Amino acid sequence: MKIGICNDHAGVEYKQKLVKYLQSKGHEVVNYGTDTEDSVDYPVYAHRLAEAVESGEVEKGIALCGTGNGMAITLNKHRGIRAGLAWGTQIGRLVKEHNNANVLVLPARFISYPMANAIVRTWMETEFAGGRHQRRIDMIPCSK
Ligand code: RB5
Repeated sequence: MKIGICNDHAGVEYKQKLVKYLQSKGHEVVNYGTDTEDSVDYPVYAHRLAEAVESGEVEKGIALCGTGNGMAITLNKHRGIRAGLAWGTQIGRLVKEHNNANVLVLPARFISYPMANAIVRTWMETEFAGGRHQRRIDMIPCSK
């Protein structure tokens, strides 16, 4: 699978570890994040990843910042993005099963790396349940 990943300065270390992990599993990973811990503005990176997912350049995305909220708020401004924040494996499963999140967002300053890795694995292995969850997803776009 071709996966995009982005991060701000708070997510550099976990991003680099996740890239290695995903590549070791045979995935192609495109890095839309920063690679230094110099302070940067998360929307720059969130928009890059969102545009790549929306255009089909990558199939799915992973985004990391300190709390995850800056990335999630920015990503979800894009019509083609369903970005879901997860801080545990059960939420990582449900964000795919119920919300069909095409971008997984991780709060790098609030979870360990092993947890981040476990959430990514769970999200990637889980299938969207469809049915009533598809109906709810279809109701998300705001027409106003
Ligand atoms: C950076 O200090 C921090 O604000 C950012 O990583 C993120 O948590 C924003 O939502």
